[in-house]
Amino acid sequence: MPAFTHHIFVCGNRREPGHPRGCCDDDGGGRLRAEFKAALERHGLAGEVRANAAGCLDQCELGPVVVIYPQGIWYGGVQVEDVQRIVTRTLLGGEVLEDLRIPAEALNTKGAHPWRPGRAEDQTD
Ligand code: FES
Repeated sequence: MPAFTHHIFVCGNRREPGHPRGCCDDDGGGRLRAEFKAALERHGLAGEVRANAAGCLDQCELGPVVVIYPQGIWYGGVQVEDVQRIVTRTLLGGEVLEDLRIPAEALNTKGAHPWRPGRAEDQTD
C-alpha cells in the first residue's frame, strides 16, 4: 500500500463567541473537513490523501486554517468554496494558492503580523 501523498489537517477548534483569538469552526459543524472529504472522494483521492480533523493549530487569528503535509503549505481564511480549487490546483496541480497562503513570517505570531486572508478574483475552478 503506497504512503499517503498529502495529509490535510483541518482545524476544527471551536471557542466561545468573542474570544480574542477567534477560532476556525464557529458553529462546531465541521463543514470544512466534511467538504474536503467529499471532494477527495469525488476526485478518487480518498486512498491517497487524508483530510484529518485537527485541534487548534495555533494560527487562530488567520483562520479557518488548514495545513498540508508533508509539503508544509499553510492556508488561512479557508472557506468551503475554496476546497475544490485546493484539491484541483494544490493537490493535483502542485500549485500554491497565493491568496490563501499564510506567509512564513506570519506564522506563530498570534496575529501580530499584519497578513490577513485575502480573497482571490479567480475562484472559478
Ligand atoms: S482555532 Fe484554528 S488555529 Fe487555533
